[in-house]
Amino acid sequence: MPEVVGFVHGEVKSTSFDIIVENKELAESGTYVKIHHEMYGWVLGQISFVRRYWDDKRGIERIIASVRVIGFKDAEGLVRLPKTPFKPEERVFKANQTLVRSILGLDSSGAAGLYIGTLEGEEDIKVYLDANKLIQKHLSVLAKTGAGKSYTVGVLLEELADKEVPCVVIDPHGEYYTLKIANDNPGDFDKFARFQVVPKAFLNVTEFTPNKSVNPTADVEFKLSDKNLDAREILDILPTKMTSGQEALLYQVINELKSGDYTLEYIIQQLQLSETNAKWGLIASIQSLLDNNIFSTEGTKLEEIVKKGQTSIVNLKGIKPELQELIVSKLSNDLFEARKQNKIPAFFFLVEEAHRFCPERGVGQAMSLGILRTIAAEGRKFGMGLGIVSQRPAKVDKNVLSQANTQIILKVTNPNDITAISKSLENFTPELEEVMKNLPLGTALITSENLERPVLTKIRVRRSKHGGAAVDLIKTRESSGGAPRQRIPMLGTKIDSNSGVVGMLKKRLVGTDTERRQDTAREKVHEIVEQKEQAAEEQKKADEWKENLTPDEIDFLEEHKVPGLGKRIRGKIWNGFKGFFVEDE
Ligand SMILES: Nc1ncnc2c1ncn2[C@@H]1O[C@H](COP(=O)(O)OP(=O)(O)O)[C@@H](O)[C@H]1O
Ligand SMILES: [Mg+2]
Repeated sequence: MPEVVGFVHGEVKSTSFDIIVENKELAESGTYVKIHHEMYGWVLGQISFVRRYWDDKRGIERIIASVRVIGFKDAEGLVRLPKTPFKPEERVFKANQTLVRSILGLDSSGAAGLYIGTLEGEEDIKVYLDANKLIQKHLSVLAKTGAGKSYTVGVLLEELADKEVPCVVIDPHGEYYTLKIANDNPGDFDKFARFQVVPKAFLNVTEFTPNKSVNPTADVEFKLSDKNLDAREILDILPTKMTSGQEALLYQVINELKSGDYTLEYIIQQLQLSETNAKWGLIASIQSLLDNNIFSTEGTKLEEIVKKGQTSIVNLKGIKPELQELIVSKLSNDLFEARKQNKIPAFFFLVEEAHRFCPERGVGQAMSLGILRTIAAEGRKFGMGLGIVSQRPAKVDKNVLSQANTQIILKVTNPNDITAISKSLENFTPELEEVMKNLPLGTALITSENLERPVLTKIRVRRSKHGGAAVDLIKTRESSGGAPRQRIPMLGTKIDSNSGVVGMLKKRLVGTDTERRQDTAREKVHEIVEQKEQAAEEQKKADEWKENLTPDEIDFLEEHKVPGLGKRIRGKIWNGFKGFFVEDE
């Protein structure tokens, strides 16, 4: 029997209505509800907000929830809004998973489904993105700094790696090589069961870097090829702008060299033979390119970078910005050309800090802008999916931004950024703006073609280590491994007995003098018993989850002493107790 949330009240529209809440536990904003319509059957809705007021006439408190109607599936499987209102006083129920999944379009859990989190407010409903669509279309991940972009991208890369989708990641901060390491952050252990994932080191990740001394974890030294570059390509990547005379000279020299293979070094030698003065500026500029030590004749083979089942991280940490741009520009170009000629498999190309590599006009110049625009517009035709990540959406080129069919938006507060996002979203509403500003850490608003409407998603825990905040990781480890934690397990087992802390509390209940204190103590006991039940439920879930693990996964958990879920709850209880006793003394 579905649980009743309340009944329809006041003016009823086909797109929204209010309900008088009968079961306040079920009526939270974000909760999915269903209501029966005499013509269309079950219709899905979502509580947008809840308010309480005092009903003077009846002398009681009332809770009113506003519901936004999402729709029902018609005979063709399309989601539609009812054309006539619901009956006044119709009962409203909590929606069941099947209905929520089917109406929201969350059914794509098949072979191509990328599991990135659970539906906010409905922890049992997993949210999947379609891997094929990511490659055929484009993705953006937008939010302010620290809101969880890199973490989310990490989750996505883990899923793509599991599906053996080739990926190339432009990683200016060296955050992604930790995909190679399993998540052993004790602070995350209780989340593994909750999100039904196990830690994993992704060994099919290859880290490339132009600078191995800054990035010693890298597997391969990265070089660009300077073999047979044409004049336009060279002019595009030169650090200084050439005069038309210098440009002409370069074209002329390269034309003469074109019968055989040549390198930048060789071009300089040829230029030196020229008798014009224009050559000096040109030589100096090409020489400064070479001084970057980023070129070799063959360069890193594109076939080595884009391979079936391989995630390639291009770690640019410690590389100066202009050189990063040069690398992104040349590499994107080469990859795009290679993909057009089918020399490498279809793949997903992810660019972090996109506002630097494809900035909006007037914000900055980047030599990679042109090619990234081209990939945004045409990549899909050739099986090169583009993903862009940025903390300043307002500073990202609009052409690139508007090509994203899937948007993962985490907390954004800057008004310019919100405006930029709103322009790139098809179905933007002012309500979404409020949602974006108030997203908690780790919760994303996801819009996608295969989703009926934007969904709030709790991003799942990382299976591999998050590299975004090394300092954070260390702190967590220190603060969670200490003595108090070791004592917590005792609490849980004795929660409803007369010994242990509950016993102490009960004794206090008798001994305390004031009403207020007795009330607080009583509430506390009640709360603890409730939490105990919740812990048992979560423990059951964890046990079920553990039954399905492979021996390797069990080894990992044991090796890292992953505790059962119950402990988390016991931790909360312990903190509750500490608070109580401190307050009491
Ligand atoms: N989904 C999440 N679950 C748990 N912690 C998260 C999540 N997303 C982010 N964090 C935490 O927030 C910090 C900042 O996230 P990060 O992805 O590096 O931010 P951004 O790339 O947006 O600047 C991370 O170090 C991590 O500790
Ligand atoms: Mg980041």
